[in-house]
Amino acid sequence: MTKMTLAFFTDAHLGQRLVATSELAGDKMGYEEAPGEHEHHLCVILDDIARKGISKVVFGGDIGTERSVGRFFELVRSHGFEMSLILGNHDSYGNVTQYYDPGESVVAGKLCFSQHDPHLKRIFLDTSDNVVDDCQREWLARELEGVKKAAIFLHHPILPLDTPVDRTGAALRDRDELRSLLTGMDCQISLFCGHYHMIDEAREANIRQYVSPAVSYQIAKQSERLKADTRTFGYRILEFDKDVIRTQIVLFSKP
Ligand SMILES: [Fe+2]
Repeated sequence: MTKMTLAFFTDAHLGQRLVATSELAGDKMGYEEAPGEHEHHLCVILDDIARKGISKVVFGGDIGTERSVGRFFELVRSHGFEMSLILGNHDSYGNVTQYYDPGESVVAGKLCFSQHDPHLKRIFLDTSDNVVDDCQREWLARELEGVKKAAIFLHHPILPLDTPVDRTGAALRDRDELRSLLTGMDCQISLFCGHYHMIDEAREANIRQYVSPAVSYQIAKQSERLKADTRTFGYRILEFDKDVIRTQIVLFSKP
C-alpha cells in the first residue's frame, strides 16, 4: 500500500465525569460514573472522520467505564470503520476482548500486534498496566529487527513532556528502558500516543513523538497544577505516503 489515511482518536472516557472541572487538587484526575458522559464528543468526532471519507481508524485507549465498552464498539461499528485498537490504563484486556477480536496472541494476555507494508511497519503496544514489560519489549525488539521505518502506537508517551501530568505518577513506568531500546535501533520511529489529553510533538535521536488531543476533555499543558479544559476535544489525522508520514490535528470547541 503506498498511500493510506487514518484517523487516530483517543481517551474517550465514556461514562466518566471529572469530579471537578477546573483546578484539580492532588495528583490525578478523579472521575465519577455518569452514563452518557463524553458520548456526544465521540459522536461528533466519528461523524467528522466519516465525512472526510476516512475509513481506517486507530483508537488510542481509555474507552471509559466498564459498562460503556459495549456502547463504544456499537458507535464505532455503526460508522463501518476498520478499527485497530490499543488499550489504555482505564481499559482491561478481559473486558475489551469480549467485544474486539485480539487476533493471534503474540504476547500472552497483551493486546499487541503489528501490521506490515513494504514501506513502513506499524506496531501496536499494550500499556494498560502502565508498563510495556519485559515480554512486550522483547517482542518489540524482534519486530524492529531490520526495519528502517516504523510507526508505534501506544497509549502512554515515552519521551517526557514538560507538563504537570508528567510529574504526577501518570508516566509509563518503564519508559526509560523503552527509550534506550528505541534509540539503539537503526530505525526511524514515529510514536503516536494519547493519555495526557494534550497536543505535543517531541523529538529525540531517531524518535519523533506525537501526543494527540483527547476525545473527552483536555488537560492544560502549562499550569502549576492539573487543570482541565472540558470545552475542547479532537483527534489526529495521519497520512502515510510510502515511508512519509504527515499528520494534522482536528479540534472542536464548545461555545
Ligand atoms: Fe490514560
